[in-house]
Amino acid sequence: MTDKIQTLSGYIHEYQKSVNEPEAFWSRIAENFYWRKKWDKVVEWDFHKPTIKWFRNGKLNITENIFERHLFTLGDHPAIIWEPSDPKEKNRVITLRELYEMTCQFANTMKKNGVKKGDRVIIYMPMVPEAAVAMMACARIGAVHSVVFAGFSSTSLADRINDCEAKMILTSDGNFRGNKAIDVKGVVDEAIEKTTTIEKVIVFKRTGSAVTMKPGRDLWWHEAIEGVSKENKAEEMDAEDLLFILYTSGSTGKPKGVVHTCGGYMIYSQYTFQNVFQYSAGDIYWCTADVGWITGHSYIVYGPLLAGATTLMFEGVPTYPHPGRFWEIIDKYQVNQFYTAPTAIRALQAYGLEPLAPYKLDSLKVIGSVGEPINEEAWHWYHDHVGKNQCPLVDTWWQTETGGIMISPIPGVTPTKPSYATLPLPGIQPIIVDPDGKELTGKSVQGNLCIKFPWPGMLRTTYGDHERCRQTYFGTYPGLYFTGDGVKRDEDGYYRILGRVDDVINVSGHRMGTAEVENAINEHPLVVESAVVGYPHDIKGQGIYAFVIADMSNRTEENLINEIRETVSKIIGPIAKPDKIQIVPGLPKTRSGKIMRRILRKAAEGDVSNLGDISTLLNPEVVEQIIAGSKK
Ligand code: PRX
Repeated sequence: MTDKIQTLSGYIHEYQKSVNEPEAFWSRIAENFYWRKKWDKVVEWDFHKPTIKWFRNGKLNITENIFERHLFTLGDHPAIIWEPSDPKEKNRVITLRELYEMTCQFANTMKKNGVKKGDRVIIYMPMVPEAAVAMMACARIGAVHSVVFAGFSSTSLADRINDCEAKMILTSDGNFRGNKAIDVKGVVDEAIEKTTTIEKVIVFKRTGSAVTMKPGRDLWWHEAIEGVSKENKAEEMDAEDLLFILYTSGSTGKPKGVVHTCGGYMIYSQYTFQNVFQYSAGDIYWCTADVGWITGHSYIVYGPLLAGATTLMFEGVPTYPHPGRFWEIIDKYQVNQFYTAPTAIRALQAYGLEPLAPYKLDSLKVIGSVGEPINEEAWHWYHDHVGKNQCPLVDTWWQTETGGIMISPIPGVTPTKPSYATLPLPGIQPIIVDPDGKELTGKSVQGNLCIKFPWPGMLRTTYGDHERCRQTYFGTYPGLYFTGDGVKRDEDGYYRILGRVDDVINVSGHRMGTAEVENAINEHPLVVESAVVGYPHDIKGQGIYAFVIADMSNRTEENLINEIRETVSKIIGPIAKPDKIQIVPGLPKTRSGKIMRRILRKAAEGDVSNLGDISTLLNPEVVEQIIAGSKK
């Protein structure tokens, strides 16, 4: 682990080197990996097109770097520890060698069922080790995985299948959530009805609930692997071959397939994991995310397993069967690094200190936060009561598109400050610009956060639509990658992320496009028009507030609101259900017909003291009606 930064001067030195000589810097890090053939150029890039290529002509397989690279020394060490949702069920401890065999066997199974290098495979699974096996088996044979969070609806799943023209789905019969078993296979069946490309479905038995298996298409996982060899020679991949697609919401209606490639992502996920969590051999590391999100990809599966770490995977939710469940698990396994989201902290904080009391939590060395701004109160609660004032709290800022952590303290190295992500990791060159793209230099400035130099883990394109990638990320400020986030740099040069500046809402750390939610609401036959904005929410960070114009002739308001919520749940998934729906007589519009969201945001926030100039509105009279309605 030669790349671990251990002192502040070491950080400064590495950072400067990464800026002054980026090729030498990343090439030194890449040397620690196993390459079938070495690259001939470290980076080639042009943010205008954009083209971004790392480790040109390098050949590798990421799973050889997880398995073959470590098997000799770590074969008998636990690679994945799995804790089930129900604490009464038996846990699983899977050694690196066992995981290797499971991955090879499943890779062979997929091949046997027609999957070839370059094919796309959807993974729609619960939090079980087989979900990680599924991802790595794809990587082993060069298939491109696209994990879809198992809480998404059949429509969302179908959209993703169609967008990437997937050939196979890996799924389960059901999924445990709290004390409920949720149907999964039924959702998959419904989704496939709206698609044409799926040839095979492999179903992992988890809940034992009754499902329909379509002969010739659907196979049980345990039957499909029976008698299949546990040896597999990994496919040779080019550094820039696709590793995975992960769909994420943006400010326009349709989620985008963010593309990550083999070489750069591998190096970046391991490098950031090692530095941000300061993992040492023998440590137990736990990230509470779901593999359906980028955090699960980079910091449950790839980063830790590449680094030879033990990664704990938890199937359940923080409050089942009791609100001390997280703390119980930390003590049970003597977890050393714990990585979660502010929304979970705030939800648990609401139960007070009693659920923490039975637990020592003294194994913890580093605690981390990800997904949304962490407010000062939650920061202190987490730091004082979970970290017991002993553990550095790393507030890590990054995105699906960045592949790995970008701005974060290095624990024990960077002095922390509540609600600040602090400083960029080596290799990351942030720049703050004003709305016209003018750089805001120096300290104590606030503006839009961009990155001016490529890093190995960054997205390469949006699947099937490169122009969309250009417009979304590289079009606003030519020559720069635009994050969509607002940021403040303080007098110490520390970065504080202020939240999205585009039409994206961050609900419990999950990205939701306002247009996407509006499109779903508009599917209700009685809805005429809608506008969605975010508003501050005590637990979720931001909640979804929908203003809806509807035909009320044969519904009560309450019934219609419930129906709209169900419509959104059906079209996107329960996570997108609006928290508040207000039926309004009209929406404030400019003379050119654009909705003035600024006014709606103010109404949703309950802050109507300063609405600004509304005289240019086409229909200023609706503002008062909206405000009156929002106070109800
Ligand atoms: O607004 C930022 C917020 O989450 C967005 C990225 O969301 P997603 O692609 O789903 O990835 C989440 C997990 C990496 C960012 O544009 N965000 C993420 N981490 C932080 C954050 N906001 C503030 N502080 C953070 N630590």
